[in-house]
This record gives sequence, structure tokens and C-alpha cells, in this order.
Amino acid sequence: MFDEMLKTRTALENNDLTVSIEGIDPECVPQHVAVIMDGNGRWAKERHKPRTYGHYAGAERLKEIVRTADGLGIKILSAYAFSTENWKRPITEVSFIMKLLDIYLTNEIENFNQNNVRVRFMGKREGLPAKVLEKMDNALEKTKSNHGIILNLAINYGGQTEILHAVKKVALDVKAGLLSIEEIDFTVFEAYLDTKDLPPPDLLIRTGGDFRVSNFMLWQIAYSEIWNTAAFWPDFSSELFIKALQDYQKRDRRVGGLNKKI
Ligand code: FPP
Repeated sequence: MFDEMLKTRTALENNDLTVSIEGIDPECVPQHVAVIMDGNGRWAKERHKPRTYGHYAGAERLKEIVRTADGLGIKILSAYAFSTENWKRPITEVSFIMKLLDIYLTNEIENFNQNNVRVRFMGKREGLPAKVLEKMDNALEKTKSNHGIILNLAINYGGQTEILHAVKKVALDVKAGLLSIEEIDFTVFEAYLDTKDLPPPDLLIRTGGDFRVSNFMLWQIAYSEIWNTAAFWPDFSSELFIKALQDYQKRDRRVGGLNKKI
């Protein structure tokens, strides 16, 4: 299956990324963008291909979007690659995504290093295949000194689980006398989340047309601007990404206060 897909590489791979950034104010580019990459299956179905082909095309698209985001000065890109709920899918699809992650994390290391991309992860390690965990650890280690964009991949991730785990870890530290209840504030609590040391997303993009957050970064998106497109993830071009940023820059981010223009 992979061989066939590699042979039929789409134009995505050849995209030279000469997108027009006209209309983007370089001073107001979001620091952190989060993406819910939805619509891979429907994209494939429209082409009379198996759903897995859509995931393959989605992974290719992610490579392009990382490069574009980096070129625009975005510091962090968080991407929802596999949710705690995705295990409910047919075993063949789950196995394919795991294999895709394995290959992606193996083949992209050189590319990440050339482009100074630092990889990190969110989600539960328990339940992931040993091979994928090994590749994740390797990617973390090999890219840890890079200072370019952070690609924060959510794998076996669910926002509610993340918060519950953080609460348990806080409780354990209180019980062990390492932390007092009075000391628990937003900053302290956030250090127990998978996004420790990362600012919250300024912008959350969802492709595929559905208007929901699907358990993604529930704590962190409290004040994120949301941008939705009907385009399926494999069709989420750099041009569309730029459009999302242009729209974002028109938003009035009040964060509960008054007129805080972006
Ligand atoms: C949603 O599309 C997408 C996923 C469940 C997985 C996202 C995975 C990738 C982009 C590829 C793997 C990523 C890496 C980094 C290798 P869907 O299947 O829910 O599509 P549908 O809504 O059309 O059914």
C-alpha cells in the first residue's frame, strides 16, 4: 500500500511554496497555531480511494504546512494526528495510521533538522505501539536542540484525559507535600499539562467543515480564535492557510476585556 502511494505522490510533494503573503502583517502573526486535520477519509472517498490514502495525503500536507508556518514566523504548530477516540476505528485504519506515524517520524528527521524544526508530543504513551514510541523518543532526542518552529504532534491525545491526568499529578504532589493547595494557580496547573512551557494557541483551525473542537486542547483553547473551512485536510493549501491568517488578523481579540486589536 505504501509503495503504491509513494509512486503516486501528488503535487503536494512538488509544491514550491511560493505563496503570496500579501495582506499578512508580519508583526501580528500568531505565535501558536493549532490544527484539527479533519476530512482525510472524505477526501479519499471523493477520489474512490481507500480512507488510508487520505491519511497519507494528509501527512504529506502537514509537511507543507509546517514549512509554510515556519516561513511566516509562527513559533508553534500543534496538530491533532490521533485522538484517544480514534482507536474505535477499524483495526486496518488504526494500524495504517500507526505505520504512517512510524514512517513519518523516521523519514522526516533529516528534513526537520535541516529546517531547524523541533518536535514534541502531547498525549498518552500507554497504548501506543512500542515501535511508534521508539520513533517518538528518537524524534524528540534528535530535534531537541533545534530552535525553529515547534511541531507539537498530538498522538493518542484527548483534552479531557490530559486535564484529568494533570489533576491527578497535582493531587499526588499535594499528597507528597511538594505543593500546597494555596500554591495552585493557572501557571502552576498549566505546568502539569502536556503543553508545559508552551503558550496557548492564538488560532485554532479546523478543516473538514464540522463546527466542534473534538476534545482538542480543551484547556489551552479557552481564548483561541477559531477558523473553520469546509476544505478537507489534504486540500488545505498554503494559500488557504494564509487566508486563515488574514482573517485572524482582522479579529478583535478582547480576551474578556475591551478592544484588544491583534
Ligand atoms: C481526520 O480525518 C484525521 C485523522 C483521524 C488523523 C489525522 C492524521 C493524519 C493527517 C495523518 C497522520 C499524521 C501524521 C503526522 C503522520 P478523518 O479520517 O476523520 O476524515 P473524515 O472526517 O473524512 O472521515
